[in-house]
Amino acid sequence: MKYADYIVADQNTNDTCPVFRKCFVVDKQIASAFLTITALGVYDAVLNGKRVGDYVLAPGWTAYEKRLQYQTYDITALLREENDLQVTVGKGWFSSPMPGFTNADDRARRMERPRALIGEISIKYADGSEEVIPTDASWEWAESPVRFSEIYDGEIYDATVKPAGWKKAEILEWTKDILIPQEGEEIREIERVLPKEIIRTPSGETVVDFGQEITGYVQICLDAKAGDRIEFLHGEVLDQQGNFYNANYRTAKAHVLYTCKDGRQTYHPVLTFFGFRYIKLVQFPGEPSLENFAGIVVCSDIRRTGYIRTENAMVNQLISNIFWGQKGNFLDVPTDCPQRDERLGWTGDAQVFVKTASYNYDVEKFFFKWLHDMAAEQREDGGIGQVIPDYLAENAPSAAWGDAAVICPWQIYQTYGNPQILADQFECMKKWVDYIGSVTTTPDLWTGGWHFGDWLGLDAPVGSYKGSTRDDFIASAFYAYSTGLVVKAGKVLGKDVSAYEALKERIVAAFRKAFPDYTTQTEHILAVHFGLAEDPQRTADALASMIREAGTQMRTGFVGTPYLLHVLSEYGHGDLAYDLFLRTAYPSWLYSVNKGATTIWEHWDGIMEDGSFWSTDMNSFNHYAYGSVADWLYEKAAGIRPIEENPGFSKVVICPMPDERLGGLEAEIHTRNGLVRSAWRYVDGQVRYEVTVEMPAVICVNGKEKSVEAGTYTFFG
Ligand code: BGC
Repeated sequence: MKYADYIVADQNTNDTCPVFRKCFVVDKQIASAFLTITALGVYDAVLNGKRVGDYVLAPGWTAYEKRLQYQTYDITALLREENDLQVTVGKGWFSSPMPGFTNADDRARRMERPRALIGEISIKYADGSEEVIPTDASWEWAESPVRFSEIYDGEIYDATVKPAGWKKAEILEWTKDILIPQEGEEIREIERVLPKEIIRTPSGETVVDFGQEITGYVQICLDAKAGDRIEFLHGEVLDQQGNFYNANYRTAKAHVLYTCKDGRQTYHPVLTFFGFRYIKLVQFPGEPSLENFAGIVVCSDIRRTGYIRTENAMVNQLISNIFWGQKGNFLDVPTDCPQRDERLGWTGDAQVFVKTASYNYDVEKFFFKWLHDMAAEQREDGGIGQVIPDYLAENAPSAAWGDAAVICPWQIYQTYGNPQILADQFECMKKWVDYIGSVTTTPDLWTGGWHFGDWLGLDAPVGSYKGSTRDDFIASAFYAYSTGLVVKAGKVLGKDVSAYEALKERIVAAFRKAFPDYTTQTEHILAVHFGLAEDPQRTADALASMIREAGTQMRTGFVGTPYLLHVLSEYGHGDLAYDLFLRTAYPSWLYSVNKGATTIWEHWDGIMEDGSFWSTDMNSFNHYAYGSVADWLYEKAAGIRPIEENPGFSKVVICPMPDERLGGLEAEIHTRNGLVRSAWRYVDGQVRYEVTVEMPAVICVNGKEKSVEAGTYTFFG
């Protein structure tokens, strides 16, 4: 975009989104034409009345101060002799104030950012000549029908407004060094969910129920008169009495107000999105009917690669909830939740879920982009922000959150087998580990500092979000784990990592000395899973006893839960793993299913037994973290075990772990090396196993190992 300048409206339009226009004539035969474009904000481009491309919320969310993606669209078929390109620019993630709970200065700083456009139309003519039409001061702007648009608060749209009184745009000085071609997956409308029911609540509200929590927006279609208004709010759940509820959105208004034009019309928000299952109609002309509404699911266009089916309807619902949780939170960055005043790229959540995510969907490209942003946002001292893009820049890095810098690239490499991610991230990975060494108060451990701990651990003292596992224990355990992964990554890349190998040994020794005893379930889990326990079998046995003594209940949080069932299964406590997995009483994965969940909850008891809420301030019903149990289903229950030395599933071990209570299980992953599928089913008290692999494999059933080539194999046991 050599000749293009950033352009802005020449006056403050306040909340109203400007629309930029370029009219141009094409009077020769065209060979091809492309529009290359991006915005400081989010944009919606329309050429001769037709939307350009199907990428919504472009240019997505990156570390804008360092990286801004531009998009290139083929517009050959859209061009005519006289052309009118109109591009509306909204605040998006760039200039919405964002985190509702952060200091006001930071939000004010974002709100002052301009909404700008930059791009160029390049046309190749049949006669071989070329023309470039860049954004410059000849472009015009007017007020668009989008009167307000913001990530958390929603959109106000007035369809009676026709952009008029076009004025010349102004050039904005802004660096072009940040421009990069589209790197992540495009964000698209991937699915439609039709409403199930229109409810009249006990307090008299009219609520549309889509039957499924989704992320995206509602499309309205109706006949109306100019000036009629439709206004609604979004919510995830109904309250104890069955009334509309959205206090858990905190400061996010998640509000839509649409003013109709005359006649038949269709509208959906253009420059924002919501997480919701219900909408409450505040205003609607006449009697609403189901046909007036459709839920549109908006997500990064990731391809589904994983499937899990069982003989148990509740478990199948849980699996559905996990997939919906991923769709709802993989909107350009891996977010904690899609609805309240956060929707941030929380590193800890991403780290916990990355393995499941990478089996469920092809997320290689998605993580490449996000991890590049992480490297770009890495702080001078090597610290990694709690969220990426780093919209909480004033907050200190935390163990298990910052470790995403190491864990995520390693997992993406393991799942897809492409070492490029390690090459790209290696400096960032190393700097994170070095950072720990520079801030710890005890050499070879990570002590001191502020951490999230075993966030939302069930053993948290009353009034605290943090489980009882010691911060220093978690931080040091992750220090060991991350250092070990830096060593492995370095070896893949052929680097000299002897210093990190030595460091890893020192950390393990120091850890064993500092923490000879484990107190909580999570401490036992981490010690075994990260190879720190001197006697892992004894530690796993002790964990199993603790769980039984607690009434076959887990007491873990964000940090311990993802590895819990793995550790039990690996050390001969598979029955107990199934006990926990199939448990329906609180706390358990199936409790929320029993309560009607359609996505994974942030809290095991987001809705309590009596129908009341866990809290109003921190209670998301679409938080994927605990959905990481799916990787236990793939790897342990179905037994599809990747081999570290054969990344990308170029070879695989299949070692299923059947349980009669589940009845049967079938899991498949479409890997870079072909399909791997493992199924087992109880028939008349006997287990029938069926394994299909398109790569060499070792199959372990009935205590026997068998090396096989690609094919389908059946066993009975
Ligand atoms: C987010 C998380 C996150 C946590 C960190 C919450 O507000 O929703 O999922 O990891 O904060 O403490």
